Amino acid sequence: MNKSDENNFTKENQAKDSQVQSGQEQDSQAENSQIKSNPAKNSEKISIKALTTESTPFTSDELIHWINSRRSVGNLDLPAPTQAQIEEAIECAATAPDHKKLRPWRFIVTAGDARHDLGRALVEAAEAKATEEGEILSEKTVKKTQTMPLRAPLIITVVTQMQEHKKVPHFEQMLSTGAAVQNLILALKAQGFSTVWRTGLLCNEPAVKAYFGVSADDYVTAFVYTGTSPKGEHPRKPIDIEPLVRFES
Ligand SMILES: Cc1cc2nc3c(=O)[nH]c(=O)nc-3n(C[C@H](O)[C@H](O)[C@H](O)COP(=O)(O)O)c2cc1C
Repeated sequence: MNKSDENNFTKENQAKDSQVQSGQEQDSQAENSQIKSNPAKNSEKISIKALTTESTPFTSDELIHWINSRRSVGNLDLPAPTQAQIEEAIECAATAPDHKKLRPWRFIVTAGDARHDLGRALVEAAEAKATEEGEILSEKTVKKTQTMPLRAPLIITVVTQMQEHKKVPHFEQMLSTGAAVQNLILALKAQGFSTVWRTGLLCNEPAVKAYFGVSADDYVTAFVYTGTSPKGEHPRKPIDIEPLVRFES
């Protein structure tokens, strides 16, 4: 992406940000009322600040158990994180390993009514793809696609904005984005929220990239659907790492 593309990205997203804000305000009001009516949930929240101080009250076993307890949740409700919480989580994302500090990640927060706009971009992408493949989308598929962003009150889209550097190939920048996404997900979990990382076949179709102001060379790497799980997170069955690992000495 050249400099002027980069500016476009920022400019387009400033416009989108204001849409997000107005949607987020609506969500935040509902969120605050839910927070007030659910003090038990709040007291269960673990502060990310507590996790990062030297005098962490958690043992390494507790922290490891907590990391292993993360589960994806497909359908999420309010409350969603506030803008301050989102920014805090993105600060964690931005500490991901990042060769030559290229910061190839960008974050776009979509909430409230802006989710309908994203749904329309996904339908446009699906229709263009179907036409290319000589197919016509059924009404059911159109409706399903349009409502996909409504599966959570808030979506953090993570984009890999590829930088040109002779020592840092694009695949490293993509991997760095993956690490940033995982940090983001864990930070949101630390704040008491659940997530699911989705991409889907449409995320890098031209209509979706155009919607986000992402250039052809860059990638939509994650839609981090974010909110509160009505049923908590299901316990994970232990994973046998034996076939996955080899120790050599
Ligand atoms: C790059 C990437 C893209 C993914 N895309 C989707 C997706 O589009 N839809 C989906 O249901 N799961 C997707 N997943 C998988 C879920 O995020 C999740 O990891 C999986 O359902 C396993 O659940 P768990 O995280 O609780 O182990 C994706 C994961 C990754 C890493």
